Amino acid sequence: MTSLRTRKATAVLAGTAMAMAALAACSSERTDTASGATDAGSEETLVGIAMPTRSLERWNNDGENLDSLLKDMGYETSLQYADNKVDQQITQIQNMINSGADVLVVASIDGTALGPVLGSAKDAGISVIAYDRLINGTDAVDYYATFDNYQVGQLQGEFIVEQLGLADAGTGPFNLEPFAGSPDDNNAKFFFSGAWDVLLPYVQKGQLVVPSGKAPASNDAWTTIGVQGWASATAQSEMDNRLNSFYADKKVDVVLSPNDSLALGIEQALEAAGYADGADFPVVTGQDADLANVKNMLAGKQSMTVWKDTRTLGEQVATMVDQIVKGETVEVNDTETYDNGTKVVPSYLLPPQVVTPDTAEELLVGSGFYDAAELGL
Ligand code: BGC
Repeated sequence: MTSLRTRKATAVLAGTAMAMAALAACSSERTDTASGATDAGSEETLVGIAMPTRSLERWNNDGENLDSLLKDMGYETSLQYADNKVDQQITQIQNMINSGADVLVVASIDGTALGPVLGSAKDAGISVIAYDRLINGTDAVDYYATFDNYQVGQLQGEFIVEQLGLADAGTGPFNLEPFAGSPDDNNAKFFFSGAWDVLLPYVQKGQLVVPSGKAPASNDAWTTIGVQGWASATAQSEMDNRLNSFYADKKVDVVLSPNDSLALGIEQALEAAGYADGADFPVVTGQDADLANVKNMLAGKQSMTVWKDTRTLGEQVATMVDQIVKGETVEVNDTETYDNGTKVVPSYLLPPQVVTPDTAEELLVGSGFYDAAELGL
């Protein structure tokens, strides 16, 4: 602790001018919540929290939740959002280093772009936790906390199998349109592999067909159907194109959407093409239990979402921070899966959970994730 404080005090002096200049240049997405802490034992311990964007509901919840947990534990925090711009995130992390951060928690935008800036963090003795998304190609990431990303995809695939009764030989053929997440997000390949490992056997048996031809040739080819930046608008126009080009005389039965932001765009395209809410609407998967999507589920426009209770991720990461600062053993439960190309990053994986229209109230309202009123219940 003493060395942390000494280093920090020096770094603050050296970095102030640079940090002030850079902070002034930051966009409206910057939210600097650094504040004096009350706990004398950790009052000089600063935790930098770098989040990707405010444009998606989950990251707002993630950031605010972690920030308040750490403040309650007596830490100083600096919470920053980077408008999904890689350069902006790098600048923010550099500012945190210059401001004397002791620990960095980073939900990366591009998991391959942070090596150099995190190298500086490592040189300054700062511990780095990758939050939700793995950071690749650097040894400067100490820990990773996330939900089991492969299992997220598996749950989506298994839901489709169950909804369409695919396990009964000979059912189908059903028309499937697969989508995948952002090519720069390490999670996206896990989501796709988890789902495709379940669905591919049914494609091979002809029970699932892909009229657009957009079934990747292999799990590794998932980026061919990746949606950059997880943008709803891109997913919507891609779905519009597929509907216009391949569905003049057919109906879509099922859409594999890796998350809720894509599902939202896909659902808009389906509605615009005349699919009615309810039984006529294809099976559409999702992830995150975003408010708009839960409402869509209740309105018959989305079949499921994989819920990752981000409050539990925040708690796990806050515990990790505390264990690092106190020099205790950091609790992890996976030391094999997440090889970032330079090292296998010790990870803590949390379990994701399926939510359907039938279980939304019990799971999401019952746990206090949403108020009944927010869901119109
Ligand atoms: C997260 C998902 C999220 C997506 C888009 C992924 O890295 O794990 O929960 O839907 O990013 O923000």
